[in-house]
Amino acid sequence: MLATIRQPAELRGSVEVPGDKSISHRALILNAVAAGPARIQNLATGEDVASTARCLRALGVKVSEEGVQGVGLHGLHAPHGPLDCGNSGTTMRLLAGLLAGQPFETTLTGDQSLSRRPMDRVTTPLAKMGARATLDPLRVGGGKLRGAEHLMDTPSAQVKSALLLAGLQADGVTRVVEPVRTRDHTERMLGAMAAPIRVDGAAVEVRRAARLDPLPLRVPGDLSSAAFWIVAAAFHPRALVELPGVGVNPTRAGILRLLPVARIKETKAGGEPTATLHARTMRGVRPWQWSDHLSAELIDELPVLAVAATQLGGRTVISGAGELRVKESDRIAAMAAGLAALGATIRELPDGWEIDGPVRLRGARVDSFGDHRVAMALAVAGLLAEGETEVEGAECVAVSYPRFWDDLGSLCR
Ligand code: S3P
Repeated sequence: MLATIRQPAELRGSVEVPGDKSISHRALILNAVAAGPARIQNLATGEDVASTARCLRALGVKVSEEGVQGVGLHGLHAPHGPLDCGNSGTTMRLLAGLLAGQPFETTLTGDQSLSRRPMDRVTTPLAKMGARATLDPLRVGGGKLRGAEHLMDTPSAQVKSALLLAGLQADGVTRVVEPVRTRDHTERMLGAMAAPIRVDGAAVEVRRAARLDPLPLRVPGDLSSAAFWIVAAAFHPRALVELPGVGVNPTRAGILRLLPVARIKETKAGGEPTATLHARTMRGVRPWQWSDHLSAELIDELPVLAVAATQLGGRTVISGAGELRVKESDRIAAMAAGLAALGATIRELPDGWEIDGPVRLRGARVDSFGDHRVAMALAVAGLLAEGETEVEGAECVAVSYPRFWDDLGSLCR
C-alpha cells in the first residue's frame, strides 16, 4: 500500500493513541502465569501484541478481549508446534525467558525481519543460568535454572525482562545490572504482583516466585505512538494536538525533555504515570546536545526525532544508537535514505546520524522498508514537506498503530 501525504494548512484535533505496546505485552505475559484472572483494558491493538496473545493461547492460556485467565507459573502446556512471534522482538525475547524455565521445550519463530534479529543476546545469558537454549531456530526449555548475575553491555529492556522472567523460576538470586536504565515496566508490574523483586538503581534482583498475584490494569496510551504527533505538531506552523491518557514513565520520557509539551491531568494507570499532552507548534528549538545514554531512553522515538532534527537551526548529532541497526529494519540506513530523498542534509554514522538544519523538506516517494516506525516517521516528514510525499509499504503501521493513517487524516485541516 502506498500512502500519500500533503502538508495541511493546520494540524488540529484530539487523538487517542493505542495502548502502550511494551506494557500490553507484559500485561498479557505476566498475567498468563499469575494465579487467577485479570481484566486488562485498553490493550494495544497492533499485530505485535496479537502475536503475544496467539502464542499464549498456544500454551493453553485463555486470552480474550476482557483479559487473561492466569494459569500459574506451573500451568502452561507444551504447544503443539513452533510459536509464531510474527514481527515482534518483544514477544520472542520475553517468551524465551519465560519458557526457558518450563519443563517442556518450545521453538519460537518469526517473520523474515524477526528471523534476522539477534537472539544470542537472550540465549547466552539464559545458558549461564543452566537453561537449554539454542539458536536457528530459537529453542528453549526443559532444563532446571539457577540464578546468576548478568552484567549487560548493551542496554535492552527485552533482554532484562527475559532474564527476570527466567529468574522467577530459578534457584537462588538472579541479578541483572544494566549499563543504562531501560524501561522498567516489568519491574513495576512484578512488584505490583507481589513477586520477590528488588530494584536498586540500575540493578534488579529476583528470586524464585511461589505465585504471582493477578494484576488487572488499564494500559496507558503509548508515548512512542504519541511521539509522531508531538514532532508533527512541534514543527508544523499551525498545530495543536491533544493526546489524552499517554504513559509518561520517566524511563521512557526522554522525548518530553527534548520537546517539552504541556502535560495536564497527570494521574496513574496500572502503576504507571500518565498525562494528557498538548502538543503544539514550537519555535526556536535549539539543536540537541546528545549524550549516548539518551538513546536508550528513547530508542523507539529516534526515527521521528531524526525528522525533527532536520527542522532545528544547526547541526544535531545523534549517537549511541547502534541498536537501531538491528530493529525491525536497519533504522539508521532506512531513515538516512528516506530523509535524504526528501531533501534533508543527513549523514549516516555507525551509531546514529549527523543532521544539519533547518531545511524545507520536499515531497518524494520514500520506502518504509516494511518497518512501522520508519513508515510513520516518514509520514511525519511528509506533513512538514512541500508537495506530495508517498510512503511505500504503508500497511506495516498495523504492527503498532493500526489507525495511524486515519488519525493522520483526522488531524489535517
Ligand atoms: C522494548 C524494548 C526495546 C524497544 C522495543 C520494545 C520492550 O527493545 O525498542 O520496541 O518492550 O522491552 P530492546 O530491548 O531490544 O532495546
